[in-house]
Amino acid sequence: MTDFDRNDIVCRHLQLTKEDIINAIREKNLSTFEEVQDETDAATVCGSCAADVEAILEEELRKRENGE
Ligand code: FES
Repeated sequence: MTDFDRNDIVCRHLQLTKEDIINAIREKNLSTFEEVQDETDAATVCGSCAADVEAILEEELRKRENGE
């Protein structure tokens, strides 16, 4: 679980909110960190948001697996 609300900026370099990242994961059916990077450019500047982006991805994959 991450502490971000959906409208919180997760990647400040790309100005990506948690919601932006979740939407990309769901719309494009992404399942790896690299795919999320390719699609959103998240964590491609300083990389300090990488762990948060990965945590959001893991949360989404868990939900996908559980059919949520
Ligand atoms: S905060 Fe995401 S690349 Fe710098």
